Amino acid sequence: MLQKFDQRNKEIKVFVKDRLYSRHEAKVSVFDSVVQGGDAVWEGIRVYPAGIFLLDRHLKRLRESAHAMHFERVPENEFIIDAIHSTLRANGMFHDTHIRLTLTRGEKITSGMDPRLNQSGPCLIVLAEWKPPVYNHEDGIAVISSAIRRNNPNYLDSKIHHNNLINNILAKIQANAAGVDAALMLDSGGFASELNGTNIFMVKAGVVYTPNADSCLHGITRGLVLELCQKENIPCQEKNLSLTELYNADEVFCSGTMGELTPIYAIDGRPIRKNSKVLAMLNKAFEACRNQYCSPIPDLTLGNS
Ligand SMILES: Cc1ncc(COP(=O)(O)O)c(C=O)c1O
Repeated sequence: MLQKFDQRNKEIKVFVKDRLYSRHEAKVSVFDSVVQGGDAVWEGIRVYPAGIFLLDRHLKRLRESAHAMHFERVPENEFIIDAIHSTLRANGMFHDTHIRLTLTRGEKITSGMDPRLNQSGPCLIVLAEWKPPVYNHEDGIAVISSAIRRNNPNYLDSKIHHNNLINNILAKIQANAAGVDAALMLDSGGFASELNGTNIFMVKAGVVYTPNADSCLHGITRGLVLELCQKENIPCQEKNLSLTELYNADEVFCSGTMGELTPIYAIDGRPIRKNSKVLAMLNKAFEACRNQYCSPIPDLTLGNS
C-alpha cells in the first residue's frame, strides 16, 4: 500500500510556530532541532464529522513525551488547541482529515546536539491533510516479521512518541522490499512488539491478545480497543506473543490513528483467517464511540464549511 498525492492538499494552510502559512511557505529552520537530530515529539490525530477524536489523550501523550525529553516552554494546551482549530478552519476540514501535530525543541543558535543551544522555545507544527484511513478495512494487509528489533527502554523508550523514527523506517524498508504492507517488529526477547506504524492484536478462541506495551508505542487506538473489549465483555489480555501464536491465531488485526482497525491476512506468507466476529464487534463499537470521544471544532460545521 503506497499512499497517493491527494489534490485537495495542494493549497492547504499549515501552522508553524505562531501562524499559518501556505503549504509551499510552511518551513522550519535548518537550525531546528528536528532537522539536527529528530529532536521533536508528535501525535497523529484524526478528525471525524463530530470533531477531533480523542484530543485530550493525544495532548496528554504529547505533553508527557515533551516532559520526558525535558523540553522547556512547552505551549499551553489552550494555545495548541487554538492552533489546531485555526488550521482546520482555514482549510475547511471537518472529516477525512489527519493531523500531524509536531512539537520540535525549536531553533538552535548553532548546530549541535546540546539542548542548551535551543534558546527560542519549541516550535509547534499543525499539518492537517485530507487523508481518509490509509488501509482498506475489507481487504486488510499482509506483513512480514522484520529483522529490525523494536527499541526497548534500555535504548530508547517507546513511551516517548518522538520523531526519531529510523528504527521503524528501517523495518518498513524491509516490508517494501518484501512487497508487503508493513513490518512486524519483534522485541529484544523475540516476541511481537508492533507493526512499524501500528499496534497489533490477535484473537484466539474468542480472547483478544495484544503484546505488553514494553517496546511498542502505547497507542491511543490500542488503549481504546482494550477499553472497548471491556465494555463489550470480550475477554482481553496483554501478554508476550510469539510469531507461532500469531501464525495460528483465529484473526490478527492492527490498530492506529492512520488506519483505524485493519485485518492482517498474512504474516510471513502464512495465511490468517479474516471475518471473525470479534473484529466486526470491535469495529462497530469503535464507530459508535466516534461521536462520544470527539471534541467539536468551534465555528466549523458541515453547514458553514
Ligand atoms: C510505531 C507506532 N505504533 C503504533 C501507532 C499507533 O498509535 P495511535 O493509536 O496512537 O495512533 C503509531 C502511531 O503513531 C506508531 O507510530
